[in-house]
Amino acid sequence: MSLLRQALQDLGTLLLPEIVTIADIGCSSGPDTTLFAITEITSAISERCRELGRATPEFLVYLNDLHAIDFNRVFKCLPDFNKKMQEQHGPIYICGVPGSFYGRIFPTQSLHFVHCSSSLHWLSQVPPEFCDKVNPLINKGKIFISKTSPPSVIDAYKYQFERDFSSFLKSRSKEVVSGGRMVFSLKARRTDDPTPDESCLLWDYLGEAFQDLVAECCNTGLIEEKKFDTYNTPYYEPYTEDVKAEIKKEGSFILDHLKITAIPWDGANGGNKYDRTKTAEIMGKMIRAFNESVIHSHFGSEIMDRLFQRFTEIVAADTKEVEHIGALFSLIRKSH
Ligand SMILES: C[S@@+](CC[C@H](N)C(=O)[O-])C[C@H]1O[C@@H](n2cnc3c(N)ncnc32)[C@H](O)[C@@H]1O
Repeated sequence: MSLLRQALQDLGTLLLPEIVTIADIGCSSGPDTTLFAITEITSAISERCRELGRATPEFLVYLNDLHAIDFNRVFKCLPDFNKKMQEQHGPIYICGVPGSFYGRIFPTQSLHFVHCSSSLHWLSQVPPEFCDKVNPLINKGKIFISKTSPPSVIDAYKYQFERDFSSFLKSRSKEVVSGGRMVFSLKARRTDDPTPDESCLLWDYLGEAFQDLVAECCNTGLIEEKKFDTYNTPYYEPYTEDVKAEIKKEGSFILDHLKITAIPWDGANGGNKYDRTKTAEIMGKMIRAFNESVIHSHFGSEIMDRLFQRFTEIVAADTKEVEHIGALFSLIRKSH
């Protein structure tokens, strides 16, 4: 929040149009999380205006996510939300913009502030090398990069991230005005090693849960081995230095701040009172929420309860203390 507020303070000082245009991209359809970000962003700008003795601007807010999400879940909350915002800051106008943030989704130089939280680690697709009909890469027994992955698997993921992130930056560079700000957070690595536990262990455990279901296949028919072998997660945690290098290479933005956060797995249940069974339950729900739609489209919904029950058991049985690593980047658009 401090980094987000800093970026907004600077925005309020330097640029102050009568209408401030904000985009929350990858906003999801959970009304609480989606509207929470907008509340924070508009409040910080309003506060800054009060400090500077200026009138609060009107806000035009774009909420973006993929076409498939249920925007109506958010829209239904808008009458109450708009009323509250109107009382606190003045007019706010909110629109939904469906589409992939890996391409253009807004008009040229139309945005003052872009916020993108916990989304850019999702790739636009599984790297194409895994889907080659003649000679597909097979990541046997795994669903993501792991310590035993061959370099070809690691490279395929890395290149897909580079292509996606570069398209993301190119698109936003056209859409953000000179001096505009962009703050994004994503799961990332603080090491060059592509297979640290903090990036791979949970995916290994989910792969293990899948394998157990495959082994049970003779009895239940739940998952066939071939189906499992062709499943890979469209996800990547980049090394923060590689993200910095891509920003530099694309050239339209200056990196203003980078903050790396580390939260122990057991932080999920209060931090210092370690209770791995409870941590595993929370993690099971979290990983299910993040992955359900992707797993569903490959395997159907039947496996879901059994898969995540097994995943939770595997995490509960491990006492390793690992951290979730996140990175927050704050960028400034150079002059057009
Ligand atoms: C973990 S949620 C984050 C939601 C919210 N920003 C937050 O911080 O709570 C990730 C969101 O990114 C969205 N997403 C993933 N890839 C996307 C893309 N290419 N374009 C737009 N949204 C995308 C997903 O649909 C999902 O709603």
